[in-house]
Amino acid sequence: MISSERIPNNVGLADNRRLQRALEHWQPKYLEWWHDMGPAGFQEHHQVYLRTVISVDPDGWAHFEMVRLPEYRWGIFLADPVVDRTIGFGDMYGDPVWQEVPGEFRNPLRRLIVTQGDTEPASVEQQRELGSRCPSLYDLRNLFQVNVEEGRHLWAMVYLLHSYFGKDGRDEAEDLLARRSGNTDRPRILEAFNQPIDNWLDFFMFTMFTDRDGKSQLMSLSESSLDPLSRTTRFMLTEEAHHMFVGETGVARIIERTCEILKATPGVAEDVRAKGGIDLPTLQKHLNYWFSLSLDLHGSEVSSNAATYFGNGLKGRAQEEAYEDHRVLDSIYPMAMHEEDRVVTKDVPMRNAMNEVLRDWYVGDCASGVARWNKIFERHGLSDRLRLPDRKFHRGIGMYSGFRFDPDGRPLSEAAWARRRDEWLPSEEDKKFLRSIMAEPIFEPGIFANYIAPPRRGINRMPINFEYVRTEE
Ligand SMILES: [Fe+2]
Ligand SMILES: [Fe+2]
Repeated sequence: MISSERIPNNVGLADNRRLQRALEHWQPKYLEWWHDMGPAGFQEHHQVYLRTVISVDPDGWAHFEMVRLPEYRWGIFLADPVVDRTIGFGDMYGDPVWQEVPGEFRNPLRRLIVTQGDTEPASVEQQRELGSRCPSLYDLRNLFQVNVEEGRHLWAMVYLLHSYFGKDGRDEAEDLLARRSGNTDRPRILEAFNQPIDNWLDFFMFTMFTDRDGKSQLMSLSESSLDPLSRTTRFMLTEEAHHMFVGETGVARIIERTCEILKATPGVAEDVRAKGGIDLPTLQKHLNYWFSLSLDLHGSEVSSNAATYFGNGLKGRAQEEAYEDHRVLDSIYPMAMHEEDRVVTKDVPMRNAMNEVLRDWYVGDCASGVARWNKIFERHGLSDRLRLPDRKFHRGIGMYSGFRFDPDGRPLSEAAWARRRDEWLPSEEDKKFLRSIMAEPIFEPGIFANYIAPPRRGINRMPINFEYVRTEE
């Protein structure tokens, strides 16, 4: 029996027989998946200081307890409804929003939900080996908090599939547990979610840039005319903020430590590695890698799918209310196109450019984060800076894929690319170095790996040296 106490929720699960029955089949499979593919080595004998959502009001957010990972209470929450909410964009602008899925939009809505849902378990799979290399108990706890919340995001999407898509939805919910990140036969849907995350610099860059793609996708889905989808994603955004906090502050603390080392040994930048820190080029290369993969997640620059999603009110722009024109019938987007080795600007109907519009928003959001990182160098009186590569660099999707560009966006020959790739993207040697400084996990409360500074404060006002993950006797 599914008990609604074990599954905190605000969707009236106790009175919803249909949903209960669907979850009765799905939940044991989810737990099996979590056991096989969730954090390796920390499932049985460890208690973790985790935040569990028990309601959507601010108090329900502050519930912290020590729990074993498989006993985390994954819940189902929708943000509170907006009274008399109307469709905010597209052809049906101003009509009442939908509480059920309109038949003609069943397939595209299902595809949007499945694509979003697939990323959630994928990232847990990508991150499952990181615990055994953790830089501190504080960071280990943050990793697990991100993991259980990605698990909850999967629950959120499965809730929609079970509630609104009948048998198809139940089948999709099973498939979400069957695909595997990086598996050749049954890979995850999107490429960035099939890439290994094998060290903590990858993890922090991933949560900075790829979880931020999660933010832009969730923002655009939270504008959707399908009200339950809007409310689910609106609530997910509050958790996403924590994931990006983990990424941004994780890299910030590495930069902090790198600056300390640079100042102690002025002159030779290579000394940073010799002193066990992470040097600037390595940081920049990992930034380049995860930023460019996350740009791909926004899809092709010119897309008739994106136009249809917008016209039909399925997927809007981030912060749709900030725009004046919500139908977007006549406006154009001047787009830089790559043609025969030069870039020409062409006008694209705005609706067809919606992926690029969202990508613009995303790039701006990333740029603010990088500017905050650069303040750390500034504060230390150092002239080093990190920067976002040009959006044409290292693309696998869209009109720039199939061509080579350097981080400044200058076209390159294949040979030049092959020769210089390792200057711009993590090399085998970089990975080996990172593995070498992360070979041993640090489980002593309050102690941090040499390459990363301690955080400024602990979680939920607990001290930094609190035992955030406890081994059971
Ligand atoms: Fe997520
Ligand atoms: Fe996330």
